[in-house]
Amino acid sequence: MSLLDAARYASEGYPHAEWTELRRRAPVMRVEPAAGDPYWALTRHADVVAVSRQPRRFRNWPRFKASEGAGELAATPTLITLDPPRHGALRRLVSARFTPRALRALAAGIERIAAGVLDDAADAGGSEIDFVTSVAAPLPIAAIARMMGLPESEWPVLFRLTSATVGAYDPEFQQPGETPADTIARSQRELLDYFAGLAVQRRARPTEDLAGLLVRARVDGEPLVDADLLAYYLILVVAGNETTRNAISGGLLAFIEHPDQWEQLRADPSLIDAAVEEILRWTTPVIHMARTAAADVELGGQRIAKGDLVAMFYPSANRDEDVFDLPFEFCIDRQPNRHLAFGVGEHFCLGAHLARLELRAVFRQLALRLEHVELTGDPERLASPNVGGIKRLPVRLELAPDPEETRA
Ligand code: HEM
Repeated sequence: MSLLDAARYASEGYPHAEWTELRRRAPVMRVEPAAGDPYWALTRHADVVAVSRQPRRFRNWPRFKASEGAGELAATPTLITLDPPRHGALRRLVSARFTPRALRALAAGIERIAAGVLDDAADAGGSEIDFVTSVAAPLPIAAIARMMGLPESEWPVLFRLTSATVGAYDPEFQQPGETPADTIARSQRELLDYFAGLAVQRRARPTEDLAGLLVRARVDGEPLVDADLLAYYLILVVAGNETTRNAISGGLLAFIEHPDQWEQLRADPSLIDAAVEEILRWTTPVIHMARTAAADVELGGQRIAKGDLVAMFYPSANRDEDVFDLPFEFCIDRQPNRHLAFGVGEHFCLGAHLARLELRAVFRQLALRLEHVELTGDPERLASPNVGGIKRLPVRLELAPDPEETRA
């Protein structure tokens, strides 16, 4: 049984029964896959936290994924492949733009995008739509593209290329004869070419958006060299799409499967923030991140040797019975909710508050407007050991007009 088998994630979804067994019997387990490098599988919340909070002992370079082909991603060093102290220096260049306070200015815009996307879905007039293509995918692209300052006409290209980068293990995104590593390399090359053009434009004409800010940024008094600048653009645009998309579609699916929770949210809209956290815990879109031990260390009674790879399984940590009461219940008023969907520590998701805003906007709108929803087919899952994706979610939706828009 492999915890990194892409095809298995497509056919079965998350292996929760196996993770539960591992948390109980072998929470730090040595895995030696037939293909790919050996690694330690961490399935408990406490161990994921311990590793993530020691970035000098457990490093992201050269590997931050345990899956085959991930070396290609590391071939373009980005924020996520850096270690202290350079990691912090680069992260600080943009982090002020991603704080809850800074994002407050964007909240109304994101609400409008969410309302618009739902208006388009409503135009289907109750006939079947794919919720992923119609709602869950366009919102995250639009949000980060706006922050970056990318024109709407270019969003479809970004959508295609970022989907191929994250979905490289899925045959749908591969060209004939390609391995996942080839698909990642090809789509990243295309994205980097695109960003090279963007950098030229921003150098010629300064702007206040994220793309312009990074052109002007200095680390130790020096501007970013092209490779670092383009990689920064890349991680900003790639990291937030597939992940947020899957929290949105997985969130809708959770509500369809737990109608009592949906009724509770409709009855008490003040639960929206707690509901967003529970959607994040329940869906946990990132399957794993990895670290490389920089020295011999003991973890969960096992001796991890210098150079060993450890893979942290976030969806398992988010069902840990030692941390969550009734972890297999979807409870939108769960308090506390110390989920690790965004990781923790040094590499804690830079876009966490942006993702929260997007989820809040879309589920708030749905709570206001959704009159009826039903699944019209089985969800189709992405083949990936990295992101637990829903590729298609066929539904029939009936939506009332946006009441707030009507008043405006
Ligand atoms: C529901 C949506 C999202 C989820 C579940 C998610 C999850 C994660 C996780 C698990 C990590 C790695 C944490 C670690 O290694 O310790 C991460 C890092 C990151 N995420 Fe997100 N993310 C989401 C949305 C976004 C968005 C919208 C952006 C937009 C910019 C974004 C940008 C990043 C970046 C740049 C990093 C690397 C941070 C660093 O290395 O310092 N993410 N995210």
